Amino acid sequence: MSEITCLVVYYSRTGYTKKVAETIAGMLNCEVEAVVEKKDRGGAKGYFGGIKDMLFNKTADIEKPRFDPSDYDLTIIGTPVWGNKVSLPVQSWFNSVRKPLPASAFFLTTKFSGIEYTFQQMTELSGREPAAKLALTDGRIKKEGWEKDVAEFVEKIRNKLP
Ligand SMILES: Cc1cc2nc3c(=O)[nH]c(=O)nc-3n(C[C@H](O)[C@H](O)[C@H](O)COP(=O)(O)O)c2cc1C
Repeated sequence: MSEITCLVVYYSRTGYTKKVAETIAGMLNCEVEAVVEKKDRGGAKGYFGGIKDMLFNKTADIEKPRFDPSDYDLTIIGTPVWGNKVSLPVQSWFNSVRKPLPASAFFLTTKFSGIEYTFQQMTELSGREPAAKLALTDGRIKKEGWEKDVAEFVEKIRNKLP
């Protein structure tokens, strides 16, 4: 893979997705867009509010993104799993940008469930198959060695792109 321009877009409520996003961005030298939801999702109230909003198919009101994926060769999008789906702020981000996205790759964080469906939903929202996918559980991220999974993900992306 020659020098490509890349953008990492993520939402993170409690820091897991952020940690993975920053590690990927560091390895590939990408610009980073942290999706910011206007609603406060802090604490237990934020957690249960999130579950309720997922159940009622609410949409998240997010700050206008600073970066446009069409300006980059590759966009890597990361979300926590919410109710076995893409988190509401990342759904809103997908809905705010032009589709299909240029080349993309996906990553997610989860306690344990929703991996397959969330990736499927990300593919539908982006309008194309990703070059690579990475799922990490909170348990994995809490232990040593998860960066190896990220390095493999980055390698897969490098091999897929011209
Ligand atoms: C509203 C909400 C719903 C969630 N739903 C699920 C779920 O369906 N399955 C699961 O395994 N984890 C679920 N989680 C846990 C998160 O996916 C997990 O802790 C993730 O790593 C959090 O990422 P973050 O720290 O970047 O916000 C949920 C968390 C929240 C806040």
